[in-house]
Amino acid sequence: MRTEIRERIDFATSLAAQAGELAHDYYRNLGQLTVENKGPQDVVSEADRAVERLIRNEIERRYPHDGFVGEESGNARLSAIGPIWVVDPIDGTQPFLSGVPTWCVSIGLVAQGRVAGGIVRDPCTDETFTAVVGDGAHCNGRAIRPADAQDFTQGMTEVGYSSRIPVAPTALFIEKLLDSGGIYHRGGSGALGLAYVAAGRYIAYFEGHMNSWDACAGAALVNAAGGWVHDILVDDGLLGGAVAAASGQRLAPKLQALARDAGFPL
Ligand code: IPD
Ligand code: CA
Repeated sequence: MRTEIRERIDFATSLAAQAGELAHDYYRNLGQLTVENKGPQDVVSEADRAVERLIRNEIERRYPHDGFVGEESGNARLSAIGPIWVVDPIDGTQPFLSGVPTWCVSIGLVAQGRVAGGIVRDPCTDETFTAVVGDGAHCNGRAIRPADAQDFTQGMTEVGYSSRIPVAPTALFIEKLLDSGGIYHRGGSGALGLAYVAAGRYIAYFEGHMNSWDACAGAALVNAAGGWVHDILVDDGLLGGAVAAASGQRLAPKLQALARDAGFPL
């Protein structure tokens, strides 16, 4: 199976670059974009749809028997035979549409019920993060690994939030993080936040609910880089989302305890 995953990740690395280029073309001409509101702080533009169409068409052409779950497609195709592609064409749509360069293309792979690989492509910094679980994680070809921090004072923790869940537990998580001497950051792209944990830039990532298309590639990166990541597929995670939490191995018990103390099911 690992060979099949490796082959798909190699294929999707150039696809992610192409998708990133298309997204970046829209980003350079933001004034001309048609934008729709999906809910509070939840927007979608023609850029998200066009980039997902490109990715989905190319995957279907090359791997017609694989499954596909995408943020904008709506109709998930769950494959019993091949792996399932889990795609967010633009993760960080809000920063993207605001002209803030913290967004990315996120392409993950699930095989045999587990997160198996992923790619996060950031066209603004020209960085490509790739992972094959069990076979390492890389940024622009260089091996990456999570930070060795053992408490929250030693670096930045990215905390995500969306209105899919109540405010109070996330506010409590942030309060407890600050009480522990930590600091929070919100870049607005969970996929990029997780990639930064894999690369040791953030010491941890936490979000009370994240959809699988936002989290899959990033979770693969953290796992493949040797970090700890909460199982994003737990229960009905592929279609229903789950808690997203990740860090280096030494910080993991403290991150888990903090999340539990704030009321999250970990
Ligand atoms: C969102 C981003 C954000 C996270 C939200 C996601 P989108 O995805 O990943 O960082 O906090 O949970 O919905 O809408 O930008 O693709
Ligand atoms: Ca998106």
